[in-house]
Amino acid sequence: MWAFHRLSTLKDFLNRQRAEGRSIGFVPTMGALHEGHLSLIRRSKDAQEVAICSIFVNPTQFNDPTDLLKYPRTEAEDLYLLHQTGCAAAFLPSEPEVYPAGQGVGPDFRFGVLDKTMEGEFRPGHFKGVAQVVHRLLQMVEPDSIYMGQKDFQQVAIVREMIKQANLPVRLVMCPTAREENGLAMSSRNVRLSGAQRSRAALIYEMLQDVRARAHGDNLPALEVEALQRLRGEPGFRPEYFSVVDGKTLQPVRSLADSDYVVVCVACWVGDVRLIDNLIIKE
Ligand code: PAF
Repeated sequence: MWAFHRLSTLKDFLNRQRAEGRSIGFVPTMGALHEGHLSLIRRSKDAQEVAICSIFVNPTQFNDPTDLLKYPRTEAEDLYLLHQTGCAAAFLPSEPEVYPAGQGVGPDFRFGVLDKTMEGEFRPGHFKGVAQVVHRLLQMVEPDSIYMGQKDFQQVAIVREMIKQANLPVRLVMCPTAREENGLAMSSRNVRLSGAQRSRAALIYEMLQDVRARAHGDNLPALEVEALQRLRGEPGFRPEYFSVVDGKTLQPVRSLADSDYVVVCVACWVGDVRLIDNLIIKE
């Protein structure tokens, strides 16, 4: 597997691949790779000839500076895992490579209500940073398809909208959330949970499944309240939101009849680790 730090050498590699008629699949990450990321690489490899994975801890998407400092950095292990998974090239750009001096941070996208709710409400500015960096990475890699995980459902909605607004010729593929054996969604942040927290955090997925199983008619707001109460009652848990929303607009849905595409989303602190998850309950 190749590892590139400079855009110029990545470009040489990509140009050679394209000249030989190979299609490019791209998985953007911030490193600390786990099975969830690797499943995206595999999915990319199934559909495209060349899989590229970027590792860049993007400072502009961290609204909390401590979160940025605490973000796990495991470059050597990441490169080993990518190599094992058959990724063709890793791209590890420096900050000035991503945000060259004097060039700003890219277009100022407007997302309307999409970035005001849920993550947008609790992490102001986060999606502006995500859209900027993914836009920049897509300009650098110019892939045929980009692969992103459903765990970050709202992030996928934002990137889809950014691609539309920027009119980028790339296909966005949302892939299923990889889960630990107990159902906990895989996340780079899980390594910061203690063993006990990790097993108790499975409650988050249980609550999502419970809502999916019991959703009928217009009982959705009542189920949200019940789930929030259940999570709040668990020692060390602090839920921020538990919301049933329309999968396209991300606006609240009161009844299953209100939309063809319904998703239940949650963010919950377990100790000092913030976890998010979601489940599609109608599609
Ligand atoms: O999901 C992530 O890891 C990041 O938000 C992403 C998409 C790599 C942008 O920095």
